[in-house]
Amino acid sequence: MRKVTLINGDGIGPEISDAVVKIIDASGLKIDWDVQTAGEDVITKEGVPLPERVLNSIKKNKIALKAPVTTPIGKGFRSVNVQLRKELDLYANLRPCKNLPNVKTRFDNVDIVVVRENTEDLYAGIERQADEDTAESIKIITRKASERICKFAFDYAVNNGRSEVCVVTKANIMKLSDGLFLDCYRKVAEQYPQIKKREILVDNLCMQLVQKPEQFDVLVLPNLYGDIVSDLCAGLIGGLGVAQGANIGTDCAVFEPVHGSAPDIKGQNKANPTALLLSAIEMLRYMKEFLYAEKIEKALFKTLAGGICTADLGGNASTTEFRDAVISNL
Ligand code: NAI
Repeated sequence: MRKVTLINGDGIGPEISDAVVKIIDASGLKIDWDVQTAGEDVITKEGVPLPERVLNSIKKNKIALKAPVTTPIGKGFRSVNVQLRKELDLYANLRPCKNLPNVKTRFDNVDIVVVRENTEDLYAGIERQADEDTAESIKIITRKASERICKFAFDYAVNNGRSEVCVVTKANIMKLSDGLFLDCYRKVAEQYPQIKKREILVDNLCMQLVQKPEQFDVLVLPNLYGDIVSDLCAGLIGGLGVAQGANIGTDCAVFEPVHGSAPDIKGQNKANPTALLLSAIEMLRYMKEFLYAEKIEKALFKTLAGGICTADLGGNASTTEFRDAVISNL
């Protein structure tokens, strides 16, 4: 039986992961969940929010499903999410954004995959106070990281039947840093003659996304633009309750929803498990469990198409009612 690390998280994390585990179990796929706790509650017992045992479990199992973990704002411990990405070198942030049945949005035909570089750019965190009135932040773009993320995007396109990979930069202004990213894209692109190429500036992309999102397929971006554009794309398909994500490295992959621990609705049986379920479905595809991925996705779509959804999408189903409806549609 395949072993997968499960981080239940906190806030709404335990409620939505319970729903997702029960749905996967009901599909007939047997997974041996290696449950690992992390976050605020763990600090009191183990002194740190992300104990070595969690990292070791992911390194051993190579794959993890993760519910959200609370990070204190402006104080306290470093984000468990950022730490995980760094420690496991999860260099690719993958966010498929596709319209869901019955989830009303401004556009009907969005099917975009955002591939964001996860390790450098302005997020390297190299900043200094040059003087009292001047702060500086250094943007790092390397050939190694840029080539591997572009290769990831093209490989994803090939393996998932996608036809185009569009690179997003501001290389007209940042000629050296974004210029290097663009240069790496062009070089990698030569190895994929079957995939269409496209280059766009990030400001133009944002305008086009909110006017004609259907023209885009796979997007590959440096870290900062990727962060912003992936939230824009999540908005195009109905927001946080349905936005899935994954952080993928050479050795390991962690699948998680975009949203946080939603402390405002914690313990109320109100949370929408869809984003975590979609992340789990993408995880099953990554594990090559295509039949189960398809089966669960169909059941989810049938449930939504039948008008059953949680309050964030305008419905009145509780987390457990939604879970049971998906299970009965399997
Ligand atoms: P949030 O995403 O937790 O919540 C924002 C709003 O969306 C809230 O009103 C919440 O009720 C709603 N919401 C989020 N997910 C939902 C779901 N599945 N179903 C229904 N409603 C949902 O963002 P917020 O409040 O900024 O962050 C709360 C905590 O989560 C913070 O400590 C933050 O650091 C952490 N966080 C963790 C992430 C992770 O573990 N990957 C990602 C983002 C935030």
